[in-house]
Amino acid sequence: MRPSGTIAFHDLAPKLESFRDAVLDGLSQPRKRIPCRFLYDERGSDLFEAICETPEYYPTRTEMSILKKHARKIAKLIGPEATLIEYGSGAGQKVKLLLRTLDRPRAYAGIDVSREILLRATDDLSMAAPGLEVVAICADFLTPIALPPSLRRGGGRRVAFFPGSSIGNLTPEEATRFLAQCRAMVGPQGAMLIGVDLKKDPARLNAAYNDAAGITAAFTLNLLERMNRELGADFIIERFAHHATYERSVGRVAIHIRSLVDQTATVAGRRFRFAKGEGIHTEDSWKYAVSDFQMLARDAGYTPLACWTDSADLFSVHYLAA
Ligand code: AVJ
Repeated sequence: MRPSGTIAFHDLAPKLESFRDAVLDGLSQPRKRIPCRFLYDERGSDLFEAICETPEYYPTRTEMSILKKHARKIAKLIGPEATLIEYGSGAGQKVKLLLRTLDRPRAYAGIDVSREILLRATDDLSMAAPGLEVVAICADFLTPIALPPSLRRGGGRRVAFFPGSSIGNLTPEEATRFLAQCRAMVGPQGAMLIGVDLKKDPARLNAAYNDAAGITAAFTLNLLERMNRELGADFIIERFAHHATYERSVGRVAIHIRSLVDQTATVAGRRFRFAKGEGIHTEDSWKYAVSDFQMLARDAGYTPLACWTDSADLFSVHYLAA
């Protein structure tokens, strides 16, 4: 898939080497783990889109409804001729909604680790919004990114858009650092529009991360399949299971690949032992009360100006002035 001529494409993607190194390092730890960004190969990104469609996974549709309901207020806060920088842009449905209500938006930069999805989404966007300068940056969003010069000059406000509660994958300390980094990028007149999943009834959360159709399980276990595909690993997928549980006292959903039996597997030529019940940590999904998150944003140097939630208090969208 090639981008059409109107999209500037910057490839800062982590190389295959980094997947291999991260896996070998992570599986050598006393508590095995693999960084969650590796969940999003092409197959993983497609599975994540499918998770968003399951009846149990409320964040995507709830956030969409919040953005729709408050679109005019958001557009007013952002102001004219804005440049939007979207982190973990994925399929890019939410930004379309935003761009429709903004006053003459000037440019859009999508940042995502998944090259295929990124190119598909930005291509689509450049066709839907002729005149908008569209930039695709393939990168892990945690690495500080220098904006291309054309996005650094003139125009209105620069706004970092970080929907979907992707911030939840970071620990609160990492989240604070990441927010501070974004603040430096958008500059003193800039802002951040960010979706954050709320703390709630554990049953609701456990259902959202253990959907009945097993899509979330397939998403987690795709990491084993990815190792088989890309690193010549020999995992027998049926001998592992997806395990997600809400740790209420900590305020996060912890997700692991759990070994169902005592077994060994070879990855990139090295053998690893998995005890029955042992886990490979694949991701955390932190949840915040509105006031928790506002405090975190203040720690990162922002002034929280607005926060919208749905009527069932499932999800929040914050507008933070840099
Ligand atoms: C993309 C990090 C927001 O934590 O809800 C969903 C990832 N993993 N189901 C989330 C995810 C399993 C998702 N984020």
